[in-house]
Amino acid sequence: MTGPRHVAIIMDGNGRWATQRGRPRLFGHHAGARRVREIVEACPELGVDYLTIFAFSTENWKRTQAEVAGLMSLFRRYILRETKTLVANGVRVRFIGDRVRLDDSLVGMMDELERLTENNTSVHLTIAINYGGRDEVTRATKRLAEEVAAGRLDPETVDEETLPKFLDTCVLPDPDLVIRTSGEARISNFLLWQSAYSEYEFIDTLWPDFRADEFAKLCDAYGARDRRYGGLRA
Ligand code: FPP
Repeated sequence: MTGPRHVAIIMDGNGRWATQRGRPRLFGHHAGARRVREIVEACPELGVDYLTIFAFSTENWKRTQAEVAGLMSLFRRYILRETKTLVANGVRVRFIGDRVRLDDSLVGMMDELERLTENNTSVHLTIAINYGGRDEVTRATKRLAEEVAAGRLDPETVDEETLPKFLDTCVLPDPDLVIRTSGEARISNFLLWQSAYSEYEFIDTLWPDFRADEFAKLCDAYGARDRRYGGLRA
């Protein structure tokens, strides 16, 4: 069997990684941002065409104001620092999540990076910022309801293919493999609709320690599994 075409990652454990070193939590987030580059660059060789990473959830606003501000400025720095490499490596970047609550300057940079990479096809990197699965489904449902109210959509025709067209991920395939680092076995509101049939890997490694070789091992292990989607073994 082949490896996963779409891998989604919950990058957890930055805070604990920093605390273990007696450093502030943001130190861990900066180390985590460096791992993002390594994992993106490992994708082509592993046959991973789509990588989706959870950078900031709708619940992360509950963190201290200093940590939230630090993360937002880290996202800006990441975009400034990585744009050239992402373009050169043929990576197509997309952002998912609700942009309404984000700072205008960050949204402008996100739009610009999406535009600069829109013709790239080597790896499709999707970064979830202010993303929550329930929030995404709620926003999608609202738009679907508006289509019905405007008479453009007949409720009788709504089936399992309809709602995904309104999700932030409408152009992406569903993830084959979802990885969560740092030992927590929870989905935490990530890609709720899309991961209905995904395989999961919950690993103990803290995100800043997650390296390309471990990523490759998880992709290999996925290739050895037998996915049945509720059917019978072939
Ligand atoms: C979870 O670790 C991590 C986050 C909330 C932020 C994820 C951000 C990055 C990996 C950095 C940058 C990303 C990009 C795209 C530039 P945690 O803080 O919850 O760790 P803890 O559970 O140990 O406290």
